[in-house]
Amino acid sequence: MSYRVAVCVSGGGSNLQALLDRLQGEEPARVVLVLSNRADAGGLERARQAGVPAEVLADPADAAEWITRLGRRDVDLLVLAGYLKLVPPGVVQKYAGRMVNIHPALLPDFGGPGMYGQRVHEAVIASGAAESGPTVHLVDEVYDRGAILAQRRVPVLPGDTPATLAERVLTEEHRLLPDVVLAAARAGHPVPMANAD
Ligand code: GAR
Repeated sequence: MSYRVAVCVSGGGSNLQALLDRLQGEEPARVVLVLSNRADAGGLERARQAGVPAEVLADPADAAEWITRLGRRDVDLLVLAGYLKLVPPGVVQKYAGRMVNIHPALLPDFGGPGMYGQRVHEAVIASGAAESGPTVHLVDEVYDRGAILAQRRVPVLPGDTPATLAERVLTEEHRLLPDVVLAAARAGHPVPMANAD
């Protein structure tokens, strides 16, 4: 039986695409639902192209709506892949231990409210850090603070701009997130992974 994954997106959905591309054939997991807080999120079109149900939340702050939509698809794992709004606490509680987020920096640094997209990379460069890279972590009540499951490191290079660093990190996100989801599918729940470089 396949492990049933819902992916939440607010934007372009390149991480969603990486999941759609990897979770095929004999792999033990499938994307069964894509949810967004925005009707114009590019990720919704990626889902439709892949034949996956794509739904827009009428009220992203309404836990009951989330829980109804997720329950209807019998979701085992909820993946936040560029979902940039707060997930209602009722959903976080209901899916405790079954919900992961990908963040484009090495948490616990460069996380927290308002830290998403380019802002994260700007902060990394401004700090003078020698390395960055994506983190996948469990979601709990505190923004970007749940248990870390996996990270991958990339160098911050002299002359990097937020855009060039973002691209280097994103390439690794596209490998890391499917790895974590497939490991969760095999174990039956999200598991910490040895860090790969
Ligand atoms: C990704 O870089 C993801 O790590 C980041 O948003 C981007 C979404 O890209 N998430 C955060 O910053 C969360 N704090 P995508 O829509 O192309 O997958």
